[in-house]
Amino acid sequence: MPPASSSPDSHEYDAIADAYRESKQLSFRAAVEGHTLKQLWGDVSGMKILDLACGEGHHTRILKKAGGVLVTGVDISREMIQLAEREESREPLGCRFVQADAAAYEPETDHDLVVAAYLLNYASTTALLEAFCRTAFSALRPGARFVGFNDNVRRDPNEAPSFAPYGFEKSCPHPPRPGDEIIYHIQQADGSSFPVVNYYQSPTAYAEAFAAVGFVDFQWEGPWLDPAERDNPHWADFMAHEPLTGFSARRPE
Ligand SMILES: C[S@@+](CC[C@H](N)C(=O)[O-])C[C@H]1O[C@@H](n2cnc3c(N)ncnc32)[C@H](O)[C@@H]1O
Repeated sequence: MPPASSSPDSHEYDAIADAYRESKQLSFRAAVEGHTLKQLWGDVSGMKILDLACGEGHHTRILKKAGGVLVTGVDISREMIQLAEREESREPLGCRFVQADAAAYEPETDHDLVVAAYLLNYASTTALLEAFCRTAFSALRPGARFVGFNDNVRRDPNEAPSFAPYGFEKSCPHPPRPGDEIIYHIQQADGSSFPVVNYYQSPTAYAEAFAAVGFVDFQWEGPWLDPAERDNPHWADFMAHEPLTGFSARRPE
């Protein structure tokens, strides 16, 4: 069986850290990704929060500004963590950042919320998917929730129009099978592009991984469009074909 974790010594994001941060300017980040996550996490004031695969700390910092008390970001990429720490030095909020593989990370066990934006779609095997879910589960106090944003494995990109108007193209075998690469070609404002490689696992495999570690009420959520953009026809293809999705689950009492 393949290992359930990967080495934190180097990671593809070390090479694309700056480009990835730049891509946070794409309009779907705020209008769909950010809006969906905010709906899912709700009022976070006073919460102790863990942000798995925090990248350069984009959502970590939003969670802290929204009232999170103890907010920790964990990411496997040294470069992404360095970007997060640099931003924390530039504008200190009190976020904590840790470089670690989310599959092997041993979190404190009393978090009120765990967030993971684009972590689960790095599971090249179901064992790794389960390991990510186990870390989230063990970080939560009983009754607390795990929410996130992810590649939408319920939609085959081969059956969707181009997502170029939104700043990326998405490709994978048709139909995708477990472990297949899903490649995002992310386009930058300067005309350059860079690839990000995710892995396909079936919707059933997701449901089974959440249940296997003890989560209840796992469901796909959204994606939802910021109501301020509701009448903007630009979003029609994105919302009809939903390349990305939210999710939520709960650790039982
Ligand atoms: C698409 S970025 C998302 C970053 C951030 N969550 C955001 O939404 O801006 C994916 C992140 O997952 C991280 N990552 C991938 N595999 C990981 C793992 N096994 N453990 C922790 N982080 C991981 C990458 O280093 C990268 O920073």
